[in-house]
Amino acid sequence: MIRRSMAYAALLLMGVGTGCKQKSAPSPALKPTAIGAAITESSGGKQVGPTGTALKDPLVVQVNDEQGAAVAGALVDFHGPASVRFEPASVLTDSSGQATTAVVLGTISGRYQLSATTPGKAHAVTLQVAETALGYQQQLGSILADKYCNRCHNPESSAERVSNYDNLEVKPHPFTEGDTLNKISDADLMAIIQHGGPALSRSALMPPYANTLSSAEVQAIIAYVRVVSDPPYRPAGTVYEQK
Ligand code: HEC
Repeated sequence: MIRRSMAYAALLLMGVGTGCKQKSAPSPALKPTAIGAAITESSGGKQVGPTGTALKDPLVVQVNDEQGAAVAGALVDFHGPASVRFEPASVLTDSSGQATTAVVLGTISGRYQLSATTPGKAHAVTLQVAETALGYQQQLGSILADKYCNRCHNPESSAERVSNYDNLEVKPHPFTEGDTLNKISDADLMAIIQHGGPALSRSALMPPYANTLSSAEVQAIIAYVRVVSDPPYRPAGTVYEQK
């Protein structure tokens, strides 16, 4: 037991060590052979994953010229809060104009604003994306939402789940829809999830979960809903960093 925790400590130290090295060392000397005019997102820009882990998919961006044709050999630098790691942080675009990096989220839950910049002819062009890091409780909520809720609340089907959304006469909202969900208090969310739509004078197509989920589990789902909402959830009475 002791030995195992020591091994973990060593691993942690190694992890922290590499993290620091990456941050302080300048990016390896990449030699760009071209300059683009525009940068767009190809994929991986709106992911959700546990804090401190690598996102499932890489972040892929595309550099094009003024005519919209792919530019190979252009430099792309990825930036984010200090706690986020990019592997690698600087990339040259490949023959299809794409630059790919793996993103390791920081240990604080919430939304991370990341950017990808490429030097343009007159000035650099930048793309902003946002990735969401889930804390332990939010991660549990995400798993529960996938198991119990998303077949109705997510209009998209996945390999594991066929969406029931199109069959519903009253449409529920995807949990990312902050415009609707941010206006519902925690207490009301608790009520509608535990007791079903009629608890908030809404449709009974929203089933009650008081017999299926513990109140801690419902709270975990609420924590998840709050962290993924777009626009972000800003409860009154809390203080946020001024930008
Ligand atoms: C069988 C389909 C179905 C399932 C499964 C389902 N819901 Fe719903 N839900 C609905 C419908 C339909 C509404 C809209 C009710 C209305 O607006 O009258 C709704 C509404 C809601 C609302 C109010 C905000 C909104 O989307 O309009 C919340 C919050 C909610 N559901 C949470 C959950 C949670 C959490 C789960 C899983 C534990 C869940 N729902 C599972 C159908 C479902």
